[in-house]
Amino acid sequence: MNKSLPRIAILGGTGKEGPGLALRWAYVGYPIIIGSRQADKARLVAEELNQQLGIDTITGQENGDAARSADICILTVVQTAHQQALEGIKEDLQGKILVDATARVDFRDPHPPSPPSAARHAQNLLGPGVRVVAAFQNVPAHSLKKNLGSSLDTDVLVCADDPAAAEVVIHLANASGMRAYYAGGLDNAVTVEGLTSLLISMNKYYGTKTASIGITGIDLPRG
Ligand SMILES: NC(=O)c1ccc[n+]([C@@H]2O[C@H](COP(=O)([O-])OP(=O)(O)OC[C@H]3O[C@@H](n4cnc5c(N)ncnc54)[C@H](OP(=O)(O)O)[C@@H]3O)[C@@H](O)[C@H]2O)c1
Repeated sequence: MNKSLPRIAILGGTGKEGPGLALRWAYVGYPIIIGSRQADKARLVAEELNQQLGIDTITGQENGDAARSADICILTVVQTAHQQALEGIKEDLQGKILVDATARVDFRDPHPPSPPSAARHAQNLLGPGVRVVAAFQNVPAHSLKKNLGSSLDTDVLVCADDPAAAEVVIHLANASGMRAYYAGGLDNAVTVEGLTSLLISMNKYYGTKTASIGITGIDLPRG
């Protein structure tokens, strides 16, 4: 673990997307806290991930405690619990960057969601004391756990009203092997969520689990 790197809490990090992100950042030295509604469940998942990597730097805490202990928080609770989860940890998130990975799309019946974006909703609910950034909504959980030390064949669209906060998240995405682009303010994130509807439909049609997006025409180095 590199102690100069920010501590990342993954809230709702016990499901499919959260552990994948945790593995990629822990692999490159970031201290990670897995968050859950139940501290025991968080600790169990943290232990499994530590064993997978042969490290001991991933810990587990209840979501609110995890948020308070972290420098940057990533929200990966199931999309149907987005508002409920945020209401429960609103005070714990004050002063933090919150990265919202929520794509409000039903896997069984994918349709693009209506505005406002989940991230805009989060910003309205949490208030100006939290810098909300939308990212990772198109990154399939299935891809994250593979080839941890290599670049991922996926790009990340990062939306935020605060470009400095977006740059922090672009750096995090790069560190975990993903190329990331600033893609405008939080209202644009509804389009990014809608892309997840396309990707799920494509996965169903082509029998895959890893459809994702790639941007052309902007010459950025891959992270
Ligand atoms: N799966 C993907 O490939 C993928 C890709 C891109 C983006 N995303 C987005 O990432 C987020 C998580 O997706 P997922 O597939 O990882 O979801 P998931 O596995 O279904 O659930 C994630 C976690 O949500 C927590 N949760 C469930 N009900 C809750 C409630 N009422 N209140 C608070 N937390 C609750 C659970 O944690 P505890 O029981 O431990 O509290 C659960 O482990 C979603 O917003 C999704 O749109 C997913």
